[in-house]
Amino acid sequence: MLPSLPFTAHRFPMHGEAMNMPRFLQLLFMVSFSLAFVYFWCLGVSLNSKHGTRLQPCSNQAEDQLSSTYGQDCSRHGTLSREPSGPAAPNEDLEGVDASRYERLKLLDLQHRQYTRKKLIHDMCRHNGALRFSEKATFSGFPNEQLANLIVDDQHGIIYCYVPKVACTEWKSIMIFLSESLKINGTPFKNHSDIPRDLIHSNSVVYLNRSHRNLMKWKIRKYKKFLFVRNPLVRLISAYRDKFEKKNDYFYKFLAVPIMRRYKNLFPPTSAEHAYMNGIRPSFSDFIQYILDLPDDDGSSFEEHWRQVYHLCHPCQIEYDFIGKMETMYEDAQYLLRILKVDHIVHFPPGTSNRTEESWIKTWFTSIPIEWRKKLYQIYEPDFQLFGYSLPENFYNNPAPILCHEELRQF
Ligand SMILES: *[C@@H]1O[C@H](CO)[C@@H](O)[C@H](O)[C@H]1NC(C)=O
Ligand SMILES: *[C@@H]1O[C@H](CO)[C@@H](O)[C@H](O)[C@H]1NC(C)=O
Ligand SMILES: *[C@@H]1O[C@H](CO)[C@@H](O)[C@H](O)[C@H]1NC(C)=O
Repeated sequence: MLPSLPFTAHRFPMHGEAMNMPRFLQLLFMVSFSLAFVYFWCLGVSLNSKHGTRLQPCSNQAEDQLSSTYGQDCSRHGTLSREPSGPAAPNEDLEGVDASRYERLKLLDLQHRQYTRKKLIHDMCRHNGALRFSEKATFSGFPNEQLANLIVDDQHGIIYCYVPKVACTEWKSIMIFLSESLKINGTPFKNHSDIPRDLIHSNSVVYLNRSHRNLMKWKIRKYKKFLFVRNPLVRLISAYRDKFEKKNDYFYKFLAVPIMRRYKNLFPPTSAEHAYMNGIRPSFSDFIQYILDLPDDDGSSFEEHWRQVYHLCHPCQIEYDFIGKMETMYEDAQYLLRILKVDHIVHFPPGTSNRTEESWIKTWFTSIPIEWRKKLYQIYEPDFQLFGYSLPENFYNNPAPILCHEELRQF
């Protein structure tokens, strides 16, 4: 006979007694419920201990930890408080978008893509300690210089955090067009493609005015905010090619010359023109060595073309509504313009800079020792983690095959 269970009010039917079926079922239910309860409780305990303090609920100790790092409340954003529940579930973003004009499935896909990207950032930022952050974590403590990349369009309520080397010129020109901040004879441009390139990077872009801190915070809270990112290593290659392989007086004088003096032990010509004509420039490996030697500060010693995106745009402090990627630029751009409700006045040009092949990395990094690759990854690790990038397979194991000079050139 089974020992009687303390919580049962009745005894088991004895041999020969008629089984009371409903009672028996009741008992069976209670036993299985209790077993299930004990099972899930044990599971919970083991999960908790496995993940240490990182997965603790936001009450008690974890909350103190989060609030001291991220802000006064559990929302991590101090006065800029973000919804504690995380990014909006897919569907909510579609509000006001005329879905009949788009293929429904494609929209759902894009919507889901945004949800996934925002959720990743949200989760990474929340799990304090998962990211190797060295910057001030509350928005309120931010020095104004840290918000220098926020471009604003007050007409439509849009903020764009520009990341150099990620179609930034195109997006700046769209922001100039939308905010009508550049006029020729008093008339704003009718088409963003007509804005002369040389005027885009000058003063025609409107930056968020950081003198009015409260207004600035209000706008950051209310406006639609977006940014575009790219594989961190590909971004570095792109920056190197743009700033050191092309003739550029400024970069030559202030970066190329000091880099060559330091790492090539060379006294390069003073004229950028002369150096360019003779192919005198830092190698990609000199450039990487220079980056590895930069101080691990809040990012300010990194020139903005290679400064980490998390230092440029602060995705843990500013809740972006849209995370675009270079790898999916055209699709993302079209969808973004819809969300911003400006797709009837701006068309993003197709095929804009899609030169993001992963094979680039393997090719360019053949000259980079494996130890350096590891250090470099550490420097850009939060960008990899926040934006869901990973290193190419075997990046640390096998040096990629050494290609000849001609093969390298075609990239
Ligand atoms: C920002 O605001 C200050 C103070 O009102 C003003 O002097 C300055 O011109 C503004 N800057 C820009 C770029 O609008
Ligand atoms: C702007 O001009 C480009 C070609 O110059 C054109 O393809 C694009 O559709 C125009 N944009 C709008 C919104 O009309
Ligand atoms: C961009 O690259 C991806 C992957 O290489 C490719 O599938 C896509 O068609 C390209 N897009 C454009 C506009 O060239």
